[in-house]
Amino acid sequence: KENKLWGGRFKGTTDPLMNLYNSSISYDSKMFKEDLEGTRIYTQGLQKLNLITVQELEAIDTGLTAIEKEWVEGTFKIVENDEDIHTANERRLGEIIGKEISGKVHTGRSRNDQVATDMRLYCFNNLNQKIIPFLKDLIQAIIERAENEIDVLMPGYTHLQRAQPIRWSHWLSSYATYFSEDLERLQQLTQRLNKSPLGAGALAGHPYGIDREFLAQGLNFNDVIGNSLVAVSDRDFVVEIMFWSSLFMNHISRFAEDLIIYSTAEFGFVQLADAYSTGSSLMPQKKNPDSLELLRGKSGRIFGNMAGFMMSLKGIPSTYNKDMQEDKEPLFDSLLSVEHSILIATGVISTLAIKPENMFKALTMDMLATDLADYLVKKGVPFRETHHISGECVALAETLKLSGIDQLSMEQFKKIDDRFTEDVFEIFDFEQSVEHRSAIGGTAKKAVLAQLAKLQANL
Ligand code: ARG
Repeated sequence: KENKLWGGRFKGTTDPLMNLYNSSISYDSKMFKEDLEGTRIYTQGLQKLNLITVQELEAIDTGLTAIEKEWVEGTFKIVENDEDIHTANERRLGEIIGKEISGKVHTGRSRNDQVATDMRLYCFNNLNQKIIPFLKDLIQAIIERAENEIDVLMPGYTHLQRAQPIRWSHWLSSYATYFSEDLERLQQLTQRLNKSPLGAGALAGHPYGIDREFLAQGLNFNDVIGNSLVAVSDRDFVVEIMFWSSLFMNHISRFAEDLIIYSTAEFGFVQLADAYSTGSSLMPQKKNPDSLELLRGKSGRIFGNMAGFMMSLKGIPSTYNKDMQEDKEPLFDSLLSVEHSILIATGVISTLAIKPENMFKALTMDMLATDLADYLVKKGVPFRETHHISGECVALAETLKLSGIDQLSMEQFKKIDDRFTEDVFEIFDFEQSVEHRSAIGGTAKKAVLAQLAKLQANL
């Protein structure tokens, strides 16, 4: 007879491929700490019900500590029939403290509330210990760069066509703004997932009246899931993390795409550090922005993880079904890829060299055509009309093959509209154009600095 935790009612053996197919230990052993901690607190709850003695509790505690040490030191031996982290830890506990005592830890508990507890704890710990602080570092690095390089001007684009001059720091601040919203969203979802399923049993609830609030507090959850069916079957927190990851990677991808464009020889605005570039096996001169391309490329897989798992979830009936084991591989993959992506993005942005001369050279006078229209607005001409007049100036300069609208003579301006006067030439100043955009959220120095201060305060 096979030595399986659930083997009592079975007569036949499991197909070997089925064993492999069913097993999750190769990826859920990541949660060994959370699993042991859950058992530690759960057995305290059992002791309060006098279902185990104080001496037994002490033995269990010692056993759990020994198992944790084995996992940490890499000496834990996974054996056949260790189907998942829960069965592996329980099997090992029996070996260390004897089955007489270890056989009591699962009283009233199911792997259904156990795995839901482990997953929530794992997510909470991962987000709080890694993703959130790393994301804060990324935002901090962008803010610092933006403050230091506040005087650098560059072209702002729409449709990837030169549009209006902006500050480089304004561009930086735009991504810090996205990431800051990502941080806020992450903090909100972290609160939502921080609820305890433990003590819900297999689905129907706990038969010995365990104190679920005590269990929740012991595991630092801030609430108890109020319906046992939901406690074991809810994986919305997994979907939320995957969605968060997808949206975050979407921002990272656009950030990377901008920098890829800016780093081409044709633009020449930025130069990636060697540390984040790679070369070509054939073309000796190549320096490729592989870090940025991977930031952009990985976003596809992260989105796929979310879409795939939502498909797994959508058709399954109430409570636990084995389909739900499919939450782990894509979730762990998303968490790890996001973690690495944040660290790479932080490295890239902290080591990037910028070329302010090239950014400035890329500014062209036609980018001040809006400023030209605004000039006449200040003289009382309706904007619809001034837009047209300024457009005629652009067209004339183009026909005359002038280098820009600033090269038109006073007579030529006057011929287009006699409300133009000598002071029109004063508008052809990029710095001044930028400084005019001083309303909240604009690209003027004080407006950008205000954005940065607010982002900093939100960290
Ligand atoms: N390895 C399983 C999972 O990750 C644990 C829960 C198993 N529960 C069960 N009733 N078979 O979903």
